[in-house]
Amino acid sequence: MNPKAESKNQGAPGVLDVSENTSYAVSRTVMELNMFLLLVVVVSLTIPSWAAERHRLQLLVPEDKLAEARAITSPLPNSPETVAQGKAIYDGKGACFRCHGKDGDGNGPLAARLNPSPRNFQDHGFWSQRTEGEIFWVIKNGSPGTGLVGYGDQLTDGEIWTLIQYIRSFAREHGPA
Ligand code: HEC
Repeated sequence: MNPKAESKNQGAPGVLDVSENTSYAVSRTVMELNMFLLLVVVVSLTIPSWAAERHRLQLLVPEDKLAEARAITSPLPNSPETVAQGKAIYDGKGACFRCHGKDGDGNGPLAARLNPSPRNFQDHGFWSQRTEGEIFWVIKNGSPGTGLVGYGDQLTDGEIWTLIQYIRSFAREHGPA
């Protein structure tokens, strides 16, 4: 059939084309909008299980306490005995493993419920951003509004230092010291 004759049969070809294009464009926009809304719903549903660790550059010691915290140094020698004492507290009365995991990977049994997530002690980058004094200060005083309460009234300073030697060893076991 002659294509020109066919298009004449359908009336003004220009007008017809425009309306077809418009309805196509409208339904495409509606579809894109639906996809977008679906994405929003999916993302918002998954957020609770998407909790992440705070960025390691975000220091937990308040600014006005930072100098004081950084000046604190461990009185204990680095020794396998100290590490063993720290492990006993980590797995025992300190129960740090419940959030930070037996292997220090931040994936303990309670971790999934926490936001921010517990720190992964295997992460070398984390240790390079903290002095031991800051770590000590945070274990003692806690991080307000998170799962990490201050242990100052449950553990002695000496016990906290043994813990620090132990939790540091997680990173050594998982790459360069
Ligand atoms: C109930 C869960 C929970 C327990 C138990 C727990 N922690 Fe944590 N810990 C957290 C969370 C959550 C964070 C992250 C806090 C933040 O990012 O502000 C954290 C962070 C830390 C940090 C990182 C501090 C920093 O400067 O980023 C250290 C060190 C730490 N915990 C040590 C310990 C030790 C040692 C114990 C046991 C005595 C312990 N935690 C027990 C939840 C816990």
